[in-house]
Amino acid sequence: MAEKLLEVKNLKTEFRRDKTMVTAVKDVSFTIHKGEVLGLVGESGCGKSVTSLSIMRLLIDTPGKVTAGEVLLEGKDLLKCPENEMRKIRGSQMGMIFQEPMSALNPCMRIETQLIEAIRLHRSLSRSEARKHSLTMLKTVGIPDPETTLKSFPHQLSGGMSQRVVIAMAMCCDPKLLIADEPTTALDVTIQAQILELMLRIKNEKNTGILLITHDLGVVAEMCTRVIVMYAGRIVEEAAVSELFKAPKHPYTQGLIASVPKLGSGVTTLPSIPGNVPDLSMMPKGCKFAPRCKYVMDLCRNLEPELKTAGQDGMRKCRCHLLNTTNKEVSAL
Ligand SMILES: Nc1ncnc2c1ncn2[C@@H]1O[C@H](COP(=O)(O)OP(=O)(O)OP(=O)(O)O)[C@@H](O)[C@H]1O
Ligand SMILES: [Mg+2]
Repeated sequence: MAEKLLEVKNLKTEFRRDKTMVTAVKDVSFTIHKGEVLGLVGESGCGKSVTSLSIMRLLIDTPGKVTAGEVLLEGKDLLKCPENEMRKIRGSQMGMIFQEPMSALNPCMRIETQLIEAIRLHRSLSRSEARKHSLTMLKTVGIPDPETTLKSFPHQLSGGMSQRVVIAMAMCCDPKLLIADEPTTALDVTIQAQILELMLRIKNEKNTGILLITHDLGVVAEMCTRVIVMYAGRIVEEAAVSELFKAPKHPYTQGLIASVPKLGSGVTTLPSIPGNVPDLSMMPKGCKFAPRCKYVMDLCRNLEPELKTAGQDGMRKCRCHLLNTTNKEVSAL
Protein backbone atom coordinates (compact mmCIF):
# COMPACT_ATOMS: atom_id res chain seq x y z
CA MET A 1 0.00 0.00 0.00
CA ALA A 2 1.31 3.45 -0.97
CA GLU A 3 2.30 5.96 1.69
CA LYS A 4 -0.40 8.13 3.26
CA LEU A 5 -0.30 11.70 2.00
CA LEU A 6 -3.39 13.40 3.38
CA GLU A 7 -5.50 12.23 6.29
CA VAL A 8 -8.69 14.09 7.05
CA LYS A 9 -10.19 13.13 10.39
CA ASN A 10 -13.68 14.02 11.64
CA LEU A 11 -13.71 17.36 9.85
CA LYS A 12 -16.53 19.68 10.82
CA THR A 13 -17.19 23.02 9.15
CA GLU A 14 -19.88 25.45 10.20
CA PHE A 15 -21.28 28.67 8.77
CA ARG A 16 -22.76 31.52 10.68
CA ARG A 17 -26.31 32.19 9.50
CA ASP A 18 -28.07 35.07 11.15
CA LYS A 19 -27.35 34.42 14.80
CA THR A 20 -26.90 30.67 14.68
CA MET A 21 -24.33 28.27 13.28
CA VAL A 22 -25.26 25.73 10.60
CA THR A 23 -23.18 22.66 9.82
CA ALA A 24 -22.06 22.28 6.19
CA VAL A 25 -19.58 19.44 6.70
CA LYS A 26 -19.64 16.92 9.52
CA ASP A 27 -17.61 13.92 10.56
CA VAL A 28 -15.74 13.77 7.25
CA SER A 29 -12.76 11.41 7.33
CA PHE A 30 -10.73 10.03 4.45
CA THR A 31 -7.18 9.31 3.35
CA ILE A 32 -5.35 10.02 0.11
CA HIS A 33 -2.20 8.06 -0.66
CA LYS A 34 0.73 9.27 -2.74
CA GLY A 35 0.04 8.83 -6.44
CA GLU A 36 -3.65 8.17 -5.87
CA VAL A 37 -6.67 9.93 -7.36
CA LEU A 38 -9.53 9.95 -4.87
CA GLY A 39 -12.89 10.99 -6.29
CA LEU A 40 -15.38 13.06 -4.28
CA VAL A 41 -18.89 13.05 -5.69
CA GLY A 42 -22.35 14.21 -4.70
CA GLU A 43 -25.11 16.54 -5.80
CA SER A 44 -24.80 20.30 -5.79
CA GLY A 45 -24.71 21.74 -2.28
CA CYS A 46 -23.63 18.53 -0.51
CA GLY A 47 -20.38 20.03 0.80
CA LYS A 48 -17.68 19.10 -1.73
CA SER A 49 -16.22 22.58 -2.16
CA VAL A 50 -16.54 23.40 1.54
CA THR A 51 -14.54 20.23 2.29
CA SER A 52 -11.75 21.23 -0.11
CA LEU A 53 -11.69 24.85 1.07
CA SER A 54 -11.53 23.62 4.67
CA ILE A 55 -8.52 21.43 3.83
CA MET A 56 -6.75 24.35 2.13
CA ARG A 57 -7.93 26.72 4.89
CA LEU A 58 -9.40 29.03 2.31
CA LEU A 59 -12.64 29.83 4.10
CA ILE A 60 -11.17 33.08 5.41
CA ASP A 61 -13.39 35.46 3.45
CA THR A 62 -16.57 33.55 4.25
CA PRO A 63 -18.66 33.22 7.41
CA GLY A 64 -17.37 29.62 7.59
CA LYS A 65 -15.06 28.00 10.09
CA VAL A 66 -13.60 24.56 10.69
CA THR A 67 -14.79 23.79 14.20
CA ALA A 68 -13.48 20.24 14.68
CA GLY A 69 -11.18 17.64 13.20
CA GLU A 70 -7.69 17.23 11.86
CA VAL A 71 -6.17 17.68 8.39
CA LEU A 72 -2.84 15.89 8.34
CA LEU A 73 -0.50 16.44 5.41
CA GLU A 74 2.23 13.84 5.83
CA GLY A 75 1.36 13.82 9.51
CA LYS A 76 1.41 17.60 10.03
CA ASP A 77 -1.89 19.09 11.21
CA LEU A 78 -2.66 21.98 8.84
CA LEU A 79 -5.45 23.24 11.06
CA LYS A 80 -2.85 24.04 13.72
CA CYS A 81 -0.44 25.84 11.38
CA PRO A 82 -0.08 29.60 11.74
CA GLU A 83 -1.41 31.45 8.67
CA ASN A 84 2.06 32.54 7.45
CA GLU A 85 3.24 28.90 7.45
CA MET A 86 -0.01 27.84 5.77
CA ARG A 87 0.61 30.38 3.02
CA LYS A 88 3.92 28.67 2.27
CA ILE A 89 2.35 25.22 2.30
CA ARG A 90 -0.36 26.34 -0.13
CA GLY A 91 1.29 26.42 -3.50
CA SER A 92 4.47 24.62 -2.51
CA GLN A 93 3.00 21.43 -1.04
CA MET A 94 -0.61 21.60 -2.11
CA GLY A 95 -2.11 23.13 -5.22
CA MET A 96 -5.72 23.80 -6.07
CA ILE A 97 -7.57 23.99 -9.36
CA PHE A 98 -10.96 25.64 -9.24
CA GLN A 99 -14.01 25.07 -11.41
CA GLU A 100 -13.81 28.42 -13.16
CA PRO A 101 -10.29 28.97 -14.55
CA MET A 102 -10.86 32.69 -14.97
CA SER A 103 -11.49 33.13 -11.26
CA ALA A 104 -8.03 31.74 -10.50
CA LEU A 105 -6.27 34.17 -12.83
CA ASN A 106 -5.84 37.88 -12.31
CA PRO A 107 -7.46 39.53 -15.37
CA CYS A 108 -5.17 42.58 -15.20
CA MET A 109 -1.85 40.73 -15.20
CA ARG A 110 -0.04 38.96 -18.00
CA ILE A 111 0.29 35.17 -17.55
CA GLU A 112 4.05 35.66 -17.34
CA THR A 113 3.84 37.92 -14.29
CA GLN A 114 1.39 35.61 -12.54
CA LEU A 115 3.39 32.45 -13.16
CA ILE A 116 6.73 34.01 -12.22
CA GLU A 117 5.23 35.41 -9.02
CA ALA A 118 3.71 32.05 -8.11
CA ILE A 119 7.06 30.33 -8.64
CA ARG A 120 9.17 32.94 -6.83
CA LEU A 121 6.82 32.95 -3.85
CA HIS A 122 7.90 29.41 -3.07
CA ARG A 123 11.27 28.94 -4.71
CA SER A 124 14.41 31.00 -4.51
CA LEU A 125 14.86 31.43 -8.25
CA SER A 126 15.91 34.55 -10.15
CA ARG A 127 13.36 36.16 -12.47
CA SER A 128 14.98 34.65 -15.55
CA GLU A 129 15.19 31.19 -13.96
CA ALA A 130 11.54 31.48 -12.92
CA ARG A 131 10.63 32.55 -16.45
CA LYS A 132 12.44 29.52 -17.86
CA HIS A 133 10.57 27.30 -15.43
CA SER A 134 7.27 28.96 -16.49
CA LEU A 135 8.01 28.05 -20.10
CA THR A 136 8.74 24.44 -19.14
CA MET A 137 5.51 24.26 -17.12
CA LEU A 138 3.45 25.65 -20.00
CA LYS A 139 5.01 23.05 -22.31
CA THR A 140 4.26 20.32 -19.78
CA VAL A 141 0.58 21.23 -19.78
CA GLY A 142 0.49 21.06 -23.57
CA ILE A 143 0.45 24.72 -24.50
CA PRO A 144 1.69 24.84 -28.11
CA ASP A 145 3.20 28.32 -28.12
CA PRO A 146 4.34 29.06 -24.56
CA GLU A 147 6.18 32.30 -25.43
CA THR A 148 3.00 33.90 -26.81
CA THR A 149 0.91 32.54 -23.91
CA LEU A 150 3.33 34.04 -21.39
CA LYS A 151 2.78 37.46 -22.93
CA SER A 152 -1.01 37.13 -23.01
CA PHE A 153 -3.64 38.43 -20.63
CA PRO A 154 -6.16 35.83 -19.38
CA HIS A 155 -9.02 37.15 -21.59
CA GLN A 156 -6.91 36.45 -24.69
CA LEU A 157 -6.89 32.72 -23.92
CA SER A 158 -9.62 30.13 -24.60
CA GLY A 159 -11.23 28.27 -21.67
CA GLY A 160 -9.09 25.18 -22.30
CA MET A 161 -5.87 27.19 -22.50
CA SER A 162 -6.73 29.15 -19.33
CA GLN A 163 -7.39 25.93 -17.43
CA ARG A 164 -4.02 24.59 -18.62
CA VAL A 165 -2.37 27.75 -17.30
CA VAL A 166 -4.19 27.28 -13.98
CA ILE A 167 -2.92 23.70 -13.81
CA ALA A 168 0.60 24.89 -14.67
CA MET A 169 0.32 27.42 -11.87
CA ALA A 170 -1.01 24.86 -9.39
CA MET A 171 1.76 22.42 -10.33
CA CYS A 172 4.66 24.85 -10.74
CA CYS A 173 6.19 24.03 -7.35
CA ASP A 174 5.62 20.27 -7.57
CA PRO A 175 2.94 20.06 -4.90
CA LYS A 176 2.47 16.68 -3.26
CA LEU A 177 -1.28 17.14 -3.20
CA LEU A 178 -3.54 18.59 -5.85
CA ILE A 179 -7.14 19.45 -5.10
CA ALA A 180 -9.15 19.79 -8.29
CA ASP A 181 -12.67 21.10 -7.74
CA GLU A 182 -14.67 20.39 -10.92
CA PRO A 183 -11.60 21.18 -13.05
CA THR A 184 -13.28 20.50 -16.37
CA THR A 185 -16.92 21.41 -15.85
CA ALA A 186 -16.58 24.71 -17.70
CA LEU A 187 -14.86 23.10 -20.70
CA ASP A 188 -16.17 21.29 -23.75
CA VAL A 189 -15.88 17.52 -23.94
CA THR A 190 -12.72 17.16 -26.06
CA ILE A 191 -10.81 19.70 -23.99
CA GLN A 192 -12.15 18.02 -20.85
CA ALA A 193 -10.61 14.70 -21.94
CA GLN A 194 -7.27 16.38 -22.70
CA ILE A 195 -7.14 18.13 -19.32
CA LEU A 196 -7.99 14.93 -17.44
CA GLU A 197 -5.33 13.04 -19.38
CA LEU A 198 -2.87 15.79 -18.53
CA MET A 199 -3.67 15.51 -14.81
CA LEU A 200 -3.13 11.74 -14.94
CA ARG A 201 0.18 12.18 -16.75
CA ILE A 202 1.45 14.69 -14.19
CA LYS A 203 0.30 12.42 -11.38
CA ASN A 204 2.18 9.46 -12.86
CA GLU A 205 5.34 11.52 -13.38
CA LYS A 206 5.36 13.21 -9.97
CA ASN A 207 3.46 10.71 -7.81
CA THR A 208 1.04 13.51 -6.85
CA GLY A 209 -1.98 12.63 -4.74
CA ILE A 210 -5.17 14.11 -6.18
CA LEU A 211 -8.55 14.87 -4.67
CA LEU A 212 -10.82 15.11 -7.68
CA ILE A 213 -14.17 16.72 -7.02
CA THR A 214 -16.76 16.15 -9.68
CA HIS A 215 -20.45 15.51 -10.18
CA ASP A 216 -19.60 13.43 -13.26
CA LEU A 217 -19.45 9.71 -12.51
CA GLY A 218 -17.97 9.11 -15.96
CA VAL A 219 -14.94 11.19 -14.95
CA VAL A 220 -14.69 9.19 -11.72
CA ALA A 221 -14.72 5.91 -13.64
CA GLU A 222 -11.88 7.09 -15.84
CA MET A 223 -9.69 8.87 -13.33
CA CYS A 224 -10.08 7.48 -9.84
CA THR A 225 -9.12 4.38 -7.94
CA ARG A 226 -11.32 5.09 -4.94
CA VAL A 227 -14.28 7.32 -4.44
CA ILE A 228 -16.19 8.91 -1.59
CA VAL A 229 -19.82 9.91 -1.93
CA MET A 230 -21.09 12.89 0.05
CA TYR A 231 -24.61 13.79 0.98
CA ALA A 232 -25.70 16.72 3.12
CA GLY A 233 -22.17 17.30 4.37
CA ARG A 234 -21.54 13.68 5.37
CA ILE A 235 -19.69 10.86 3.67
CA VAL A 236 -22.34 8.23 2.99
CA GLU A 237 -20.21 5.73 1.08
CA GLU A 238 -16.57 4.99 0.31
CA ALA A 239 -15.42 2.29 -2.08
CA ALA A 240 -13.03 1.25 -4.82
CA VAL A 241 -14.44 2.70 -8.03
CA SER A 242 -15.13 -0.70 -9.62
CA GLU A 243 -16.98 -1.87 -6.47
CA LEU A 244 -19.04 1.30 -6.32
CA PHE A 245 -20.29 0.91 -9.88
CA LYS A 246 -20.80 -2.85 -9.60
CA ALA A 247 -22.71 -2.81 -6.34
CA PRO A 248 -23.48 0.57 -4.79
CA LYS A 249 -24.60 0.05 -1.21
CA HIS A 250 -26.12 3.36 -0.12
CA PRO A 251 -29.54 4.14 -1.62
CA TYR A 252 -28.22 7.62 -2.45
CA THR A 253 -25.29 6.19 -4.42
CA GLN A 254 -27.70 3.82 -6.16
CA GLY A 255 -29.79 6.83 -7.17
CA LEU A 256 -26.75 8.70 -8.46
CA ILE A 257 -25.58 5.74 -10.54
CA ALA A 258 -29.08 5.06 -11.90
CA SER A 259 -29.23 8.61 -13.18
CA VAL A 260 -26.12 8.25 -15.37
CA PRO A 261 -27.02 7.69 -19.05
CA LYS A 262 -25.75 4.36 -20.39
CA LEU A 263 -24.34 4.45 -23.88
CA GLY A 264 -26.56 2.70 -26.41
CA SER A 265 -29.28 1.91 -23.89
CA GLY A 266 -31.85 3.83 -25.93
CA VAL A 267 -33.21 5.28 -22.70
CA THR A 268 -34.16 8.92 -23.12
CA THR A 269 -35.58 9.76 -19.70
CA LEU A 270 -33.40 8.91 -16.75
CA PRO A 271 -34.60 8.39 -13.23
CA SER A 272 -33.47 11.18 -10.96
CA ILE A 273 -33.57 11.07 -7.18
CA PRO A 274 -36.83 12.75 -6.15
CA GLY A 275 -36.57 15.66 -3.71
CA ASN A 276 -33.71 18.00 -2.88
CA VAL A 277 -30.62 18.20 -0.70
CA PRO A 278 -31.89 19.53 2.66
CA ASP A 279 -31.21 23.13 3.64
CA LEU A 280 -28.45 23.43 6.24
CA SER A 281 -30.79 25.09 8.72
CA MET A 282 -33.46 22.42 8.32
CA MET A 283 -31.54 19.17 8.47
CA PRO A 284 -33.65 16.09 9.23
CA LYS A 285 -32.99 14.58 12.64
CA GLY A 286 -31.93 11.05 11.67
CA CYS A 287 -30.42 9.97 8.36
CA LYS A 288 -30.13 13.10 6.22
CA PHE A 289 -31.22 11.12 3.16
CA ALA A 290 -34.30 9.61 4.86
CA PRO A 291 -36.85 12.05 3.35
CA ARG A 292 -35.77 10.99 -0.17
CA CYS A 293 -35.04 7.31 0.48
CA LYS A 294 -37.36 4.67 -0.94
CA TYR A 295 -36.27 2.16 1.71
CA VAL A 296 -36.79 4.50 4.67
CA MET A 297 -37.61 2.85 8.05
CA ASP A 298 -38.74 4.47 11.33
CA LEU A 299 -35.24 4.11 12.72
CA CYS A 300 -33.82 6.17 9.85
CA ARG A 301 -35.97 9.16 10.75
CA ASN A 302 -34.83 9.15 14.35
CA LEU A 303 -31.21 8.11 14.46
CA GLU A 304 -28.40 9.14 12.15
CA PRO A 305 -26.48 6.04 11.05
CA GLU A 306 -22.73 5.87 11.51
CA LEU A 307 -20.27 5.35 8.68
CA LYS A 308 -19.49 1.64 9.07
CA THR A 309 -17.07 -0.69 7.37
CA ALA A 310 -19.10 -2.67 4.86
CA GLY A 311 -16.60 -4.95 3.14
CA GLN A 312 -14.02 -7.54 4.11
CA ASP A 313 -10.95 -5.44 3.36
CA GLY A 314 -12.02 -2.51 5.57
CA MET A 315 -11.79 -0.14 2.59
CA ARG A 316 -15.50 -0.10 1.90
CA LYS A 317 -17.71 2.04 4.09
CA CYS A 318 -21.38 2.92 4.13
CA ARG A 319 -23.59 5.11 6.34
CA CYS A 320 -26.96 3.32 6.24
CA HIS A 321 -29.17 1.44 8.72
CA LEU A 322 -30.13 -0.98 5.97
CA LEU A 323 -26.75 -2.65 6.23
CA ASN A 324 -27.86 -4.09 9.55
CA THR A 325 -31.32 -5.07 8.48
CA THR A 326 -32.55 -8.58 7.66
CA ASN A 327 -35.31 -7.32 5.39
CA LYS A 328 -34.99 -9.40 2.19
CA GLU A 329 -35.76 -6.60 -0.24
CA VAL A 330 -33.03 -4.38 1.08
CA SER A 331 -30.44 -6.89 2.25
CA ALA A 332 -29.54 -7.29 -1.41
CA LEU A 333 -28.11 -3.75 -1.27
N1 LIG B 1 -19.68 31.13 1.85
C1 LIG B 1 -20.73 30.43 2.29
N2 LIG B 1 -21.59 30.96 3.20
C2 LIG B 1 -22.65 30.26 3.67
N3 LIG B 1 -22.95 29.00 3.28
C3 LIG B 1 -22.14 28.42 2.38
C4 LIG B 1 -20.98 29.09 1.83
N4 LIG B 1 -20.38 28.26 0.95
C5 LIG B 1 -21.11 27.13 0.96
N5 LIG B 1 -22.16 27.21 1.81
C6 LIG B 1 -23.17 26.18 2.07
O1 LIG B 1 -22.52 24.95 2.36
C7 LIG B 1 -23.19 23.87 1.73
C8 LIG B 1 -22.22 23.09 0.88
O2 LIG B 1 -21.83 23.90 -0.21
P1 LIG B 1 -20.69 23.47 -1.24
O3 LIG B 1 -20.34 24.68 -2.02
O4 LIG B 1 -19.60 22.77 -0.52
O5 LIG B 1 -21.44 22.42 -2.18
P2 LIG B 1 -20.85 21.59 -3.40
O6 LIG B 1 -21.02 20.15 -3.07
O7 LIG B 1 -19.48 22.06 -3.71
O8 LIG B 1 -21.86 21.97 -4.57
P3 LIG B 1 -21.59 22.24 -6.14
O9 LIG B 1 -21.62 20.86 -6.78
O10 LIG B 1 -22.75 23.06 -6.56
O11 LIG B 1 -20.28 22.92 -6.30
C9 LIG B 1 -24.35 24.48 0.93
O12 LIG B 1 -25.53 24.32 1.67
C10 LIG B 1 -23.98 25.93 0.79
O13 LIG B 1 -25.13 26.74 0.79
MG1 LIG C 1 -18.63 23.06 -5.35
